[in-house]
Amino acid sequence: MAGTSPAMTDGAGARRLTLLALFALLLCLAIPAHAQVLTDTPRLSGNTPPTQPMKAPPVPPMVTNDVRQMRNYPEQPPVIPHAIDGYQLTLNTNRCLSCHARQFTPGSGAPMISVTHFMDRDGQVLIDVTPRRYFCTACHVPQADAPPLVQNTFRDSLSTGGK
Ligand code: HEC
Ligand code: HEC
Repeated sequence: MAGTSPAMTDGAGARRLTLLALFALLLCLAIPAHAQVLTDTPRLSGNTPPTQPMKAPPVPPMVTNDVRQMRNYPEQPPVIPHAIDGYQLTLNTNRCLSCHARQFTPGSGAPMISVTHFMDRDGQVLIDVTPRRYFCTACHVPQADAPPLVQNTFRDSLSTGGK
């Protein structure tokens, strides 16, 4: 092209080469970093590649010792310390309430659902359980006697001396 000196063309070529080299370097840096993320993310199914068949682990026994567990923080829904197998929890029947409802606690000896379970979304305390808290197992779960599936570094502020 008229007016384009060979020196300028070479300069552009060199710049392109430098850019390419930079891009390649970035790629090399990016790929291991990405692989790292994949291996570091805890997977509930363990480290078996997702396409490999794996043996199902044995079903662990549930904790049904009737001992109420300490909550890990004040607003934690307490875990269920008894069996709930076969308890119906449907629109028409709520087996949990047959013991935990206010009017049935004298007979069942179960702790009453707390006052928050009677509050509607405006904070109005109703005479019976609020629809927001009807499906108990959305928040309360029984526990299995099994090692944790993934590491958990949660520390109760009581143990760290926090106030
Ligand atoms: C037959 C009566 C009965 C039924 C039905 C029942 N519970 Fe309980 N629940 C109890 C009793 C009694 C306790 C006190 C601890 C114990 O004895 O297991 C308790 C404890 C609990 C606790 C622990 C409370 C705390 O402060 O630690 C939770 C949560 C709970 N039940 C939830 C449920 C849910 C959810 C259901 C339904 C799936 C249910 N319960 C059905 C009797 C019952
Ligand atoms: C939206 C979540 C949620 C649902 C649904 C829910 N709970 Fe709770 N529950 C909690 C939380 C959070 C606490 C602890 C703080 C509090 O009392 O609000 C709790 C506390 C409790 C306690 C302990 C009460 C006390 O004074 O120690 C019992 C018993 C209980 N729930 C039973 C039930 C039952 C039975 C149902 C179903 C009818 C139910 N919960 C539905 C979240 C829920």
